[in-house]
Parts: sequence; structure tokens; C-alpha cells
Amino acid sequence: MLSTKVSNALNTQIVLEASSSQYYLAMASWAETQGLNGVSSFLYAHADEERMHMLKLIKFVNERGGHGIVPSLKQPPTTFKSVKAVFEEILKHEMKVTSEINNLVDITLKEKDYTTHNFLQWYVSEQIEEEALARQIVDKLKLIGDDKGGLYFFDRDMGALTTAEAKADAGEKKAK
Ligand code: FEO
Repeated sequence: MLSTKVSNALNTQIVLEASSSQYYLAMASWAETQGLNGVSSFLYAHADEERMHMLKLIKFVNERGGHGIVPSLKQPPTTFKSVKAVFEEILKHEMKVTSEINNLVDITLKEKDYTTHNFLQWYVSEQIEEEALARQIVDKLKLIGDDKGGLYFFDRDMGALTTAEAKADAGEKKAK
């Protein structure tokens, strides 16, 4: 059974994962209107991943005798300055998510809730990957600078990366 403190903290994390999903969805839609189909596929997939992070939390809270609350969300921005600005925002946002996950882990230790502590380790690893990927992408975009040709190839690569990841996920699901 979850303590009220842990349950409330997990519900706060549900809000953050849900708003991350909305935020990345807004970025995906904007990128699509800019003709950046590779970037938008990557961002649509990223929005889906965040929704999965939220769902995983809701189900865990419910399984442990709490109530996962589906939150109402603020309207995310509709336009973005550039692709670089989008990925810089993502990196900043993911760093914030990491710090919130770390706070959550801290709460579970203080509350001696080792089951939730164990459950959260998946999020700890996921955050390492997400931050590293966002950082790599920002570095690539810094290299590209204002080179339009570079952006064209970047967009193509992001599309290929998304397709490769989707295929790997489908393979993993089949193997399960
Ligand atoms: Fe669910 Fe990107 O943190």
C-alpha cells in the first residue's frame, strides 16, 4: 500500500509525464508544418513514449492501492523559433524530469517504500538515455548551424532513426 506522501508524489510525476507528452506533441505538429517530416516523426514517437511513461505510473499507483489521477493540462506553445531551439528545450525539460525523478527516489527512501524505489529504477535509467540522446542531437544541430543542406540531412537522419527504433521496439514486443 502506498503512503499518501508517495502516492501524491507519483501523481505529481504523472502530471509531468503527461505535460511532457503534450509538449512534444506540439513540437511534432509544428515541425510537420515546417516540412521537417523526419524531425516530426521523431517527436511524435517521443510524445507517445512520454504517454507510456505516464500510463506506467498510473497503473503502478492503482496496483499499489492508490489512485492514478489523469490530469488536466495547460496548452503548450504552438510555434518554436527553430529546430535547435526545440531540442534545447527538450534537453532542458528532460534535465528537469531527471531531477524530479531523483526527488521521488529520495522520498521513497525516506518513506522506506522499497517497492516503489525499485519500480522507479526503470525511470532512472530511462532518464540517462533520454538526456544523452537530447544532448547528442543538440550538439549535432550546433555543428550544422545555419547550413540549410545540413538541416535537410539532419531531418532525413531523424526520420531514419525513428523508423529503426520503431522496428527494434516491434521486434522486442514480438520476442516477449
Ligand atoms: Fe518521461 Fe522524457 O521523461
